[in-house]
Amino acid sequence: MPPQGAPEQSRAADSVGIVTPGDSRDAGDTWRPTPIQHLFDQSDRARLKELLPSVPGWWVDIGAGWGRLLPAYFDPKRNIALIDQNLTALETVARFYPHSNVHLILADAYRLPFRGDAFDAGLSVRTFQQIDTPELLLQEITRVLRPQATFVLNYTNKKSLLRIVRYGLDSFRSEHQAVSDNLFCTHPRYLEELLRRSGLTPLRSRSCGLAEQVIKAGGYLDRLLAKAPFLVPPLALGDRVASHSLGRLGLLPNVFAALRKEGTAPPAAAEPRPGLADVLACPHCRKFPLNTLETGYACSDCDRRFPCQGRILDFRLA
Ligand SMILES: C[S@@+](CC[C@H](N)C(=O)[O-])C[C@H]1O[C@@H](n2cnc3c(N)ncnc32)[C@H](O)[C@@H]1O
Repeated sequence: MPPQGAPEQSRAADSVGIVTPGDSRDAGDTWRPTPIQHLFDQSDRARLKELLPSVPGWWVDIGAGWGRLLPAYFDPKRNIALIDQNLTALETVARFYPHSNVHLILADAYRLPFRGDAFDAGLSVRTFQQIDTPELLLQEITRVLRPQATFVLNYTNKKSLLRIVRYGLDSFRSEHQAVSDNLFCTHPRYLEELLRRSGLTPLRSRSCGLAEQVIKAGGYLDRLLAKAPFLVPPLALGDRVASHSLGRLGLLPNVFAALRKEGTAPPAAAEPRPGLADVLACPHCRKFPLNTLETGYACSDCDRRFPCQGRILDFRLA
């Protein structure tokens, strides 16, 4: 995914001192969001702001990409772990987010390099659609969250109005369905069953993305809107109205679901705020704490080493 910033992203970023792609303070800035990309970003961030909690502590963004959504939840009082398997994406984050509370972790979402109960909140956006074994990912999310922590999971809705019109009864079959290579859509009922088995309780959800789907369906619309950007505000308004009507009925293509890990919340910690070394664990054998080396971390059980490249910690398993 090429990095694209947004004017709104830059303004949000200014308030917390973040330099993002698209920010004019970046001399090497060549990225400009198209009006459509700006619209998608705004819609995703609005849903996140509705559903994410306001807690400090440790946060995790699974499949964070180049950090497109960081402005929606960045806070200097939070420690934020961005996880992705794509080195180039994390290098982009490193370039635009120099903040010491933003931690960049190259890892597989199925084998997160964290101890259990490490995170106070988290999110995963536009990544579940690339996950072929969703139950494994949900187990891993549950493991690393503290009891009562909130996690916002975004997925592609198999039962959206557009899919019902296009695919009829097939849209009602409860499954995580491959729609193309490495791309899946999920029936909400199927997800609920997986969540129940994983120990995650659905709190509330919002669906959105009507304009995005319509634009993607007719490729020429994207080109038309790029040439006639004055059409974008009415489209954005229509999209917002749809999100607040059809979206609440769960009929739009892009679902954001707020989930809560079951269990009793631990008492507020008296010890100082945990640092990175306190939350890391070996992704292979789960051992913690890891030994801190000059060049990264090492596991004393399985002898694996996890090097640090610049600000990026490499926890991939060979
Ligand atoms: C479509 S991008 C979304 C990025 C970001 N969340 C956003 O909304 O802009 C999906 C990201 O998930 C990452 N991803 C997919 N499967 C993964 C896995 N098993 N482990 C880690 N990252 C994964 C990809 O590398 C990619 O950066």
